[in-house]
Amino acid sequence: MAENIQGMKRTHRCAEVTAADVGHDITVMGWVQKRRDLGALLFIALRDRSGILQVVVNSETHAELHEKAVQVRSEFVVAVRGKLANRDASAVNANMETGTVELVAEEFRILSKSETPPFHIEDNSSANDVLRLKHRFLDLRRPDMQRNLMLRHRLAKCARDHFHDAGFLEIETPMLTKSTPEGARDYLVPSRVQPGKFFALPQSPQLFKQLLMVGGFDRYMQITKCFRDEDLRADRQPEFTQIDLEMAFVDVDDVIGVNETFLRKAFKDVMGVDVPTPFKRLPYDQAMSRYGSDKPDTRFGLELCDCSDLAVSSGFQVFSGAVDAGGSVRAINAKGCGPKYSRKEIDALGDVAKTYKAKGLAWIVIDEAGFKSSFAKFLTEDVLAGFKARLGAEPGDLLLFVADKDDVVFDALGHLRLAIAAKTGLIRPGTWDLLWVTEFPLLERDGEEDRWVAKHHPFTSPMDEDLAYLESDPGKVRAKAYDIVLNGVEIGGGSIRIHDQELQQKMFRTIGFTEEQAQARFGFLLDAFRYGTPPHGGLAYGLDRLSMLMLGKDSIRDVIAFPKVQTAACLMTGAPDVVDDKQLDELHIRLSDVPLEAE
Ligand code: AMO
Ligand code: AMP
Repeated sequence: MAENIQGMKRTHRCAEVTAADVGHDITVMGWVQKRRDLGALLFIALRDRSGILQVVVNSETHAELHEKAVQVRSEFVVAVRGKLANRDASAVNANMETGTVELVAEEFRILSKSETPPFHIEDNSSANDVLRLKHRFLDLRRPDMQRNLMLRHRLAKCARDHFHDAGFLEIETPMLTKSTPEGARDYLVPSRVQPGKFFALPQSPQLFKQLLMVGGFDRYMQITKCFRDEDLRADRQPEFTQIDLEMAFVDVDDVIGVNETFLRKAFKDVMGVDVPTPFKRLPYDQAMSRYGSDKPDTRFGLELCDCSDLAVSSGFQVFSGAVDAGGSVRAINAKGCGPKYSRKEIDALGDVAKTYKAKGLAWIVIDEAGFKSSFAKFLTEDVLAGFKARLGAEPGDLLLFVADKDDVVFDALGHLRLAIAAKTGLIRPGTWDLLWVTEFPLLERDGEEDRWVAKHHPFTSPMDEDLAYLESDPGKVRAKAYDIVLNGVEIGGGSIRIHDQELQQKMFRTIGFTEEQAQARFGFLLDAFRYGTPPHGGLAYGLDRLSMLMLGKDSIRDVIAFPKVQTAACLMTGAPDVVDDKQLDELHIRLSDVPLEAE
């Protein structure tokens, strides 16, 4: 039978004891990591979230305790009171935080037994993901997961502290609400009392935080769940957490300033790393033309180079055709990679380019003797000299070209840069590269619907310089929108909002909303704007993503206590699941004959 803790009080976490506690009476409680029987002495490595402490039970002095302690196995929960002692010099374990001390048990209770766990609780567990996620409560006990969630906690606390100190108020916004304009699919919740009507879970608190500005709170922040029914990726979950904020009476530099101070503090407090401020800023146009991405990894060069003008005269139809069709020919110079890459490896780079819709990857390897190329027959001396000069090519370099519409060229070369950098080890570990991408286009063309749509959301303000083009040349208008990028991952984004009613209406007209449509979707916001709206703007961070990057992990699952898998399911609880007919009846829902997915 399990014992209880009556009369015992935990005094320390396992690894929080120090040399100063030696000789004192202490009580610890935790999980058995390992038991070792050495004749008269029994050693137990006792684990809690702080780490491990060695407990010794001596059968000669405490026969009864020893009899009990020999029963424990891995993951039993025990309580131990005793005296902390120095270990013999020969028993000191330099690899362990508490390796110089041990707890000599004088009282020992088994608080809970454990079946043999399906996997051993340890760092670098070889157990597969499915097993670990099914038993997430055990997976969470692994020191790795404990460290991850503790870092996440410190980051969240740092955000609260920083924004509190900067005069932000933490205010909650509803979870049951109307659809927000972030552009992903909504998770819907049926209303019981209003048959046929649905709430949407918020994709972000966007509209509410703007209403809080209208409501006079002037600086708001919240750490809150957001829900987006979109395809999962390593850095995307259907429910995730934002550090969300909004400020009134500000312009772009004010929002950026407060956030640079926050990130500097966060890196210092959480990681002990100094990141210099101000961060670099790169207008969207340059991010695309130099790096082929709106979230460029600028820890290394390998910049894109426009070769369209040279390409048209090359006589290579693939090149001139792309330029004639309004596209471009761009290239990167993988310095020194010529001799390093086999034909097979260059072909593999071609496959990377094709994943991003490029029709091919043309290449030139420069060597002392001359060159080799996949389009050698079109390379006259002049054209080759032109490419070499443009790309600063020297013997040993590998030049890679993509010809297509700009967006394909950028995407393909942007990803090739990353692939080459990873393959050739161009990225110095431990570099924290923070960068603002600014001046995003306000609108983009929706090919399917053949109309302009807001790139960020329809409340983002155009740049003052470009206001005049909103109706005449919408594609030219830049937005007061900014993303914060860390090592090539977007960790946050935001904008200054439109606070002028007339401009807002113009914006809706440009994206093809009639006044009625705008009113039906966002009427409450438009109404609010009629009663005195301060200029305002804000930003939201993905807390999961930032934690993931700080920990050097590849998946945000590692920083979420109970994450979902690729199919948006929780393997531990089995959600989503079928519900009783009665529940459906109450919600006025009848299921169509969609076959249930095989379990
Ligand atoms: P945005 O849509 O850019 O902006 O989201 C802000 C940040 O949230 C994170 N993020 C995600 N993290 C994990 N899983 C997801 N599915 C996911 N989607 C987004 C990213 C992203 O940078 N309301 C605006 C902010 C504003 O304008 O103030 C918004 O939500 O790190
Ligand atoms: P081909 O003449 O089709 O043999 O192509 C010659 C080279 O050009 C090959 O290396 C192809 O991969 C490459 N190529 C084909 N289409 C493109 C393109 N759109 N952009 C860049 N390279 C291309």
